Amino acid sequence: MNGFEFIESTVTGNIAVIELNRPRQLNSLNRKMVGEIITAMETFDREEIVRTIVLTGKGRSFSAGADIDEMRGDDPISLELLNQFADWDRFSLIKKPIIGAVKGFVLGGGFELALCCDILIAASGTEFSFPEASLGVMPGAGGTQRLTKLAGRTKALEWLWTGERISAETALKHGVINKIVAPELLMEETLKFANRLAEQPPLSLRLIKDSVNKAVDYPLYEGMQYERKNFYLLFASQDQKEGMNAFIEKRRPDFHGK
Ligand code: CAA
Repeated sequence: MNGFEFIESTVTGNIAVIELNRPRQLNSLNRKMVGEIITAMETFDREEIVRTIVLTGKGRSFSAGADIDEMRGDDPISLELLNQFADWDRFSLIKKPIIGAVKGFVLGGGFELALCCDILIAASGTEFSFPEASLGVMPGAGGTQRLTKLAGRTKALEWLWTGERISAETALKHGVINKIVAPELLMEETLKFANRLAEQPPLSLRLIKDSVNKAVDYPLYEGMQYERKNFYLLFASQDQKEGMNAFIEKRRPDFHGK
């Protein structure tokens, strides 16, 4: 995709890769960049060829957070009028699997962006943190909500209050990330995982993501009713016929996302 200033994006096979491309500022996120990331993601979400979206950063770090230069002069009214978080809300609407491949620093808004991913693969040595309190503010793009839902209130409060650096091992232990890999293998391992997902029937992955996301907010009974509707819906797909026929005929299924 062309015309972006702060990101690069490519599609290889069924995998789209979006790279944050402001490495000299450690991929600190200015508002235009966030707009570009979500615009690219939405485009890939609609492109039939793309089955998995990978989000990563160029240079030594995934992202050192929101661009402090850009926001230091803000006031409540300018923030309200700007409504910048409307762009962030759009991440929750992406239906395809998003895999974050992170390394170096994953701080503040960069951590919030990572938490918008469905699967997180981190290079060993990656450090996560919410340093916002040390700037006299707090996370505003979902950090207090998403971290608490993943790691629980106890650790979320400790990490958000102190801003301490969380190692990849600790993040893994608390369910914040999926996997740690050697730094030199970060993209290779991520693409391997992305390709594995790309071989699965896309509609199943889509409705599983939709149902799992509901589990985060819904009471069990309502969540199960919701799950059931998605289960029924998949029986309208060609991939359901293909998957079950392939099993009976003892062959590999060929899924088309229809
Ligand atoms: N905003 C703007 N510029 C940033 C930045 C940020 N968040 N993080 C790093 N940079 C810039 C630095 O200013 C520096 O630029 P110059 O070369 O022009 O001086 C360049 O990136 C490289 O950074 P450092 O020289 O500082 O690199 P380092 O390795 O010594 O330190 C670091 C790395 C510990 C990440 C340090 O840069 C740092 O502490 N950055 C700020 C981290 C932070 O507080 N992030 C949270 C921001 S608030 C937020 O995200 C969200 C919100 O919801 C309100």
